[in-house]
Amino acid sequence: MKIAVAGTGYVGLVTGTCLAKMGQSVVCVDKDETKIIQLNLGKSPIYEPGLEAEIVKAKEAGRLRFTMDYTQTYREADVIVVGVATPENADGSANLHALYHVCGQIADAIESPTLVVVKSTVPIGTNDKLAIYFDQILGEDRKNLVEVASNPEFLSQGTALRDTLQAERIVIGTENQEAEDMLTEIYAPFGQPILKMNRRSAEMVKYASNDFLALKISFVNDIANLCEAVGADIEEVTNGMGADSRIGNRFLSPGIGYGGSCFPKDTKALHWLAEEAGYTLKTIRAAIDVNEKQRFKLIQAARKDMSQFTGKKIAVLGATFKPGTDDLREAPSIPNLQLLLGEGADVHVYDPVGLPNLEKVFGDRLHYSESVASTLQDADACFIFTEWAEIKEMDLGLFQTMREPQVYDGRNCFSIKAAEAAGMNYYSIGRARVGGVVFA
Ligand code: UGA
Repeated sequence: MKIAVAGTGYVGLVTGTCLAKMGQSVVCVDKDETKIIQLNLGKSPIYEPGLEAEIVKAKEAGRLRFTMDYTQTYREADVIVVGVATPENADGSANLHALYHVCGQIADAIESPTLVVVKSTVPIGTNDKLAIYFDQILGEDRKNLVEVASNPEFLSQGTALRDTLQAERIVIGTENQEAEDMLTEIYAPFGQPILKMNRRSAEMVKYASNDFLALKISFVNDIANLCEAVGADIEEVTNGMGADSRIGNRFLSPGIGYGGSCFPKDTKALHWLAEEAGYTLKTIRAAIDVNEKQRFKLIQAARKDMSQFTGKKIAVLGATFKPGTDDLREAPSIPNLQLLLGEGADVHVYDPVGLPNLEKVFGDRLHYSESVASTLQDADACFIFTEWAEIKEMDLGLFQTMREPQVYDGRNCFSIKAAEAAGMNYYSIGRARVGGVVFA
């Protein structure tokens, strides 16, 4: 089977690479010439551990190619996997511009029966609408050439290869037997459970899964905030909760809220489309509201301790929305950095991989540090926004090089015992404070 992949972002590039690794012949298409040039040189345009090596291997095996020539690629393909972005509109709804643009190109190009597989996260009903769209624009002579199937992805940035190659499930949404058979054949070598359902259910599985995880995080953050107020310890609490297999111990880490290109967008999109359907998703509304507020927990705690940030050296450790990625989209660090700068702080940031992207946002308004040590030297306070292993494993003695070891940790990187032993003034999420407050 010849497979084309539209879009070389996280979803498209990882999917295309993994399909090629599993033996398929894959051509990835993108309109961005720089990306295609890079990929043809065996360079990954995105930071994703292990991906570049797999791209090189699949290219060398002759199973993976990259091109801007969509007409020929789509024309020759039996299956076209669409993995373009569906970002957020101003009102929270999903923007389907890129999806329809690619489908228009597919319609222009194809001459033989083609299965279009939508991997992008799309509102419920989009695949059905696309099927009608294809029938309309293909005209009478090519009317039934396209079949549309939904096949959402569940990969996380930082673990994208593992999530794809060892996925817990593959979801196929189609009521067409031929499409189902083709997708079953494509995914058979992966050896993963395949769940077959209709297109709308498949679309809903994706939103409901992401939104449930977001809800889980917001719930834990809500409980963590309450733990602070009533003297319980969120770590002990989540250990107790997670031991119940009905709850599970994953996605129970409290912090300064979820970020990234998926949860913030997908919670708002599902809430929006529910409103459109005349139903209010109260649980998702609550998850969104809790998350909005949670992002400012550290700065609120610091504001109580410090009379002002003006002229203070503030050290920031970690900026990306989570470890293992250079992505800053919806990262809780961003609004916090904006606030600190707005209040006149002298901000020094360290992140193992995120600094080039941070510089694109903040230019010379921030100081970009080369190490944890230089960031902390003589700082008045330290904020931790991302739990990189390098930060979790750092020598806590380095905090003693600050003017005062005043640390606000948004990801609970250190145990309370370790913070006490290191003589830190330490605020973390949902746990007891350590040490005194040094600023008036
Ligand atoms: C998420 C989902 O986990 C994937 O299954 C899904 O395929 C993907 O979105 C997508 O729709 O494409 P991702 O956004 O890469 O993946 O990152 P996650 O690991 O889910 O983390 C999202 C945010 O939640 C991060 O900011 C992270 O710090 C936060 N988080 C996660 C917590 O605050 N606590 C936790 O316990 C777990």
